[in-house]
Amino acid sequence: RRVHSGNLGFAEIPHTLDAQHHLPEGYRADILLRWGDPLTTDAGKFAPTALSAQEQRQRFGYNNDFIAFMPLPGEAGGAAGDSTRGLLCVNHEYTQPHLMFPGYDDEYAATRGVSAEHVAIEQEACGHSIVEVEKTAKGWRPVVDSPFNRRITLHTTMDIIGPAAGDPRLQTAADPSGTRVLGTVGNCAGGKTPWGTVLIAEEGFGGAFQGDPGAIADPVERLNHAAFAIAPHNRNWGDHDRRFDIGIEPREPNRFGWMVEIDPYDPHSRPRKLTSLGRFQHEGFTLVCKPHQPAVAYGGDDDEDQFVYRFVSAENYRPGNDTRNRNLLAAGVLYVARFSDDGTGAWLPLVFGEGPLTPQNGFRNQADVLIDARRAAALVGATPMDRPEDVETNPVNDCTYVMLTKNKSRTAGETNAANPRPRNVAGHVLEIVPPGEDGNRDHTSNDFRWYTFLLGGNPNAEDPRERGAYGEEVIGAVSPHGWLANPDNVAFDPGGNMWIATDGCERFGFHDGLWAMATEGEFRAAPRHFFGCPRGAEACGPEFTPDGTTLFISVQHPADGGRSTFDRPMHRWPDYDPALPPRPAVLAIRREDGGVVGS
Ligand code: FEO
Ligand code: CA
Ligand code: CA
Ligand code: CA
Repeated sequence: RRVHSGNLGFAEIPHTLDAQHHLPEGYRADILLRWGDPLTTDAGKFAPTALSAQEQRQRFGYNNDFIAFMPLPGEAGGAAGDSTRGLLCVNHEYTQPHLMFPGYDDEYAATRGVSAEHVAIEQEACGHSIVEVEKTAKGWRPVVDSPFNRRITLHTTMDIIGPAAGDPRLQTAADPSGTRVLGTVGNCAGGKTPWGTVLIAEEGFGGAFQGDPGAIADPVERLNHAAFAIAPHNRNWGDHDRRFDIGIEPREPNRFGWMVEIDPYDPHSRPRKLTSLGRFQHEGFTLVCKPHQPAVAYGGDDDEDQFVYRFVSAENYRPGNDTRNRNLLAAGVLYVARFSDDGTGAWLPLVFGEGPLTPQNGFRNQADVLIDARRAAALVGATPMDRPEDVETNPVNDCTYVMLTKNKSRTAGETNAANPRPRNVAGHVLEIVPPGEDGNRDHTSNDFRWYTFLLGGNPNAEDPRERGAYGEEVIGAVSPHGWLANPDNVAFDPGGNMWIATDGCERFGFHDGLWAMATEGEFRAAPRHFFGCPRGAEACGPEFTPDGTTLFISVQHPADGGRSTFDRPMHRWPDYDPALPPRPAVLAIRREDGGVVGS
């Protein structure tokens, strides 16, 4: 009986649950960036009790999520593609005051409210960090005085571009043009482009807004705001920053829920919100770019019964012509996926005037189709999925993988072949196979085949509806620690192995973390457990250097568990310092012998 995953050679770690992180033998992790770490030389040592908004703006933000490693030429004048020096581009998804501010808990919030200063700090702790990092003899470290270092927050000016830019539904009192917005929030996962930019997603933006959608006069916006869980009891940012109160500025939420493109190599560049990629709870968008063909991007809408999307650019990708490539994501067609029970699938275009996307159904123009992409997708007959998270293409076999994290509200009558389990608590992974040969597939085709890659959960679970399924050819392909649940982010190493980061395993009695597996051959879909988070945390944003010898990973919300954990010393990962709370952090994981991670 073999439990080894082909070319993966590391010694699997056990399922556990404690206040530490866990790695296989022969690996080390450098704690590279933590919430509050200074990104400029004039920001001093982090003192959480003395934190101000001005201070936070110079420091690494909260709840690190997506990571992109964007290479810089190395010391010896190495070419781009260098694996020892680069810009680490990291999302900060959201803030958690009970883990950030000493003494803050529900009682504090109820008696004293969320102060203007707390809101200002939180708004500076969200968004994105761009930090130069380098590998030294002692390990990876941030370059604190680098001119590339930059924080992007809820106060960073951004352009809105593409078909919905300037539409009246995006116009506000502060921006009558509908083309200029302050900041980004809910930045979950993302992607990279071959023209040197980073894409970051706006996922749970609705939580930043307070107010009652039912009280909005316009029936279109009433439905729209309710669909993103904007509610009176949401956090009260609107008390201190009026644009987050929909009773005062009902169109501000329409300026969030987009993909944002950032050029990390130009610290003065203005980020752009790309309306062509639609508006929903974006998990991320990842690209497939082949010379002299359209750029193709895949993404998911992370909510129960929402959809998987694909974008195909109007113009072709031209290697070496980045001035033109930079506009590729501004114009093209957004599609949404239908997964048929016979294993075929189709990409359905979301184009104003086609099919049901007409004034009879309340769409005035293409801007409406993109702002209300969820409603458009449902009308054209897309398949409602079990919370689509990352959608990413394996560069080796050229197939695309969809992480479906869970869907507790799917009923038995609502199951289908692509979402086969009612009350799906453990999630699953689908494989999209576009027409063509392995390694050279046509991602612009509107037809595909699809397969169930794995079902999350314990393969020995008593309840057949919760039973995991792994591997196809090897009996017992998954070890007792190889099973996983709630796939969220995914990355591929240079050899084409899949690395899944999870969000939800504590429900099954063990830590979230990373599992690696082959996508082809005898050990296809047979996961091995590589990394375990400290209690309370989820694993996000796995990212390899181009040479595969470093794996960066985000540990998000360590010690989270409802109440304030500031005063629980056992849970002060990763510093274990009585003066510091638990801190989300990015780790750089390497083999002690310098070899390729996972091999
Ligand atoms: Fe922010 Fe979809 O996880
Ligand atoms: Ca998250
Ligand atoms: Ca995620
Ligand atoms: Ca998640």
